[in-house]
Amino acid sequence: MQQVPDVSASTIKEFQDKIFRFYDELGRHNLSFRQTKNPYHIHISEIMLSQTQVSRVEKYFNTWIETFPTPQDVIKTSNEELLQLWQGLGYNSRVLNFKEACRQIIEEFKGEYPTSKEELMKLKGVGSYVASAICAFSYNQDIGVVDTNIRRILIYEGFANEHTPIKKLEEIAQQLVPKGRGREWNNALMDYGALKLTAQKSSVKSLGSQGKFIGSPRYIRSFIVKECLHNSQCSIQKVKEECLKYQLSYDDIIEKMIVQKIIYTQGDSIKIKN
Ligand code: ADE
Repeated sequence: MQQVPDVSASTIKEFQDKIFRFYDELGRHNLSFRQTKNPYHIHISEIMLSQTQVSRVEKYFNTWIETFPTPQDVIKTSNEELLQLWQGLGYNSRVLNFKEACRQIIEEFKGEYPTSKEELMKLKGVGSYVASAICAFSYNQDIGVVDTNIRRILIYEGFANEHTPIKKLEEIAQQLVPKGRGREWNNALMDYGALKLTAQKSSVKSLGSQGKFIGSPRYIRSFIVKECLHNSQCSIQKVKEECLKYQLSYDDIIEKMIVQKIIYTQGDSIKIKN
């Protein structure tokens, strides 16, 4: 693999030492999802952590692994129940994709999590980031995990710039991993990015922000799921009124949710699909 351009071994070593010094002193060593190497645990934690804050995830993660100790426990649970547990995490399709990934683990991988990034990416809802995270945090592989925090560090430290494409960022990140310490290193980098080199301090622009929630299509989707979980159905008229309020297309939102197999319509109601 290609070396990091214009970066000497001593610069890399100094960088590694700096990150580990920070981690030893101030790292979040007690996070619940850092107490496990089980790939199923790491998988669900990383799905939860995608676009949700660490402090919010911890409670959900503990409840999840107590309620569903194995992928089998997930697939025998109704979508409605899974969505109920997911309330407050947002992006409901993530939990339904996770259920499908659990089915794949059982049916296509004979109940064993694959150990390569390439195979992991065959699981529904698992992209490059989550697959790398499982390789690093479960299997301690020498792999560069790139989330928004780590991207910011790479740019701020001069290993990359704001135009560096994600594939290249991953190559660079991989070159920086101290051999045999993928788990510790990526945890350390994440903490350095989250606690020390924060977005405000670095002035590195982040790639696309989530935008505002109220009045967005995501708000309507969440509104529908909440109504369904409360009343076991949701009135189409009510959703249309809510869409009108924010000048959003009812048809586009509903069609997408039907394609994603989250809901179906029956008469003048919307229901959760199981
Ligand atoms: N964000 C995503 N994955 C994380 C992890 N393993 N530790 C801390 N923050 C994270």
